[in-house]
Amino acid sequence: MPEAAATTLFAHIEALQGDLPWGALLDAGTGSGSIRWIGSLATERWTAVTGAEGHARQVRDLTAATRRTADRIVLGNWADPTLLADERYDTVLADYLLGAVEGFAPYFQTRLFARLRPLTAKRLYVVGLDPYVTLDPPDEPATRLIWRIGRLRDACLLLAGERPYREYPAEWVIDHLRRSGFEPIAARRFPIRFGARFIEAQLAMLAPRLARLADRGLATALAAQADALRAEALATAAERGGLACGHDYVIAAEPR
Ligand SMILES: C[S@@+](CC[C@H](N)C(=O)[O-])C[C@H]1O[C@@H](n2cnc3c(N)ncnc32)[C@H](O)[C@@H]1O
Repeated sequence: MPEAAATTLFAHIEALQGDLPWGALLDAGTGSGSIRWIGSLATERWTAVTGAEGHARQVRDLTAATRRTADRIVLGNWADPTLLADERYDTVLADYLLGAVEGFAPYFQTRLFARLRPLTAKRLYVVGLDPYVTLDPPDEPATRLIWRIGRLRDACLLLAGERPYREYPAEWVIDHLRRSGFEPIAARRFPIRFGARFIEAQLAMLAPRLARLADRGLATALAAQADALRAEALATAAERGGLACGHDYVIAAEPR
């Protein structure tokens, strides 16, 4: 995500939290963005969960100097019922976790919030992204460029035998929070403006995947498409000061 957007979303969560203490905090889908922010908060302790060894290593390195004895990094899967069983946290953060679940526990999305419910003592914050790789092509040129990048990226991931992320709309989240024993107390969307860093990072995912394709002709054709799309998207983003497309959302909920 663009840094400016992440700062806005975390500032919004801080405003929603107000004077409530953060207490023991669970970062249910950790990564560099969320753990950096958590490091700036007055928590009693934190636990950071990830399903990926790479993310665990990154978070371990980032927090090496500041991690307290009670702070933990846990490599596990929410689909495993024993993960953090019987633990409770004052604050739970699910920061871009829902969209990533497809890669770690496909079909588990409908059970994610019920899984987090017994772990949540006071507040759950869900940060997510409305789906932007929609079925129909968007009419607006900037939105369409991001849609094309997303579709090309996901097509290459699928061809390489991987599962792309799957984002869910804010309404879906609110509905599933209610079904999972939570009461949503605040929900807000934030417009996204994607910049050069996003364009480069998403298209950089292609090369290692295309290297694995047996059909070298197809790999070369897809790499050429990616090059052309990168040039077009970067030029348009430079012209317009970014590519406006879709929304992030922050939803706060409390156990019912
Ligand atoms: C988009 S990434 C990280 C976003 C992170 N909050 C940040 O700021 O960079 C999603 C995270 O959720 C984790 N995750 C996704 N599905 C999971 C599952 N079923 N069990 C445990 N962790 C999962 C991933 O391993 C990853 O750490």
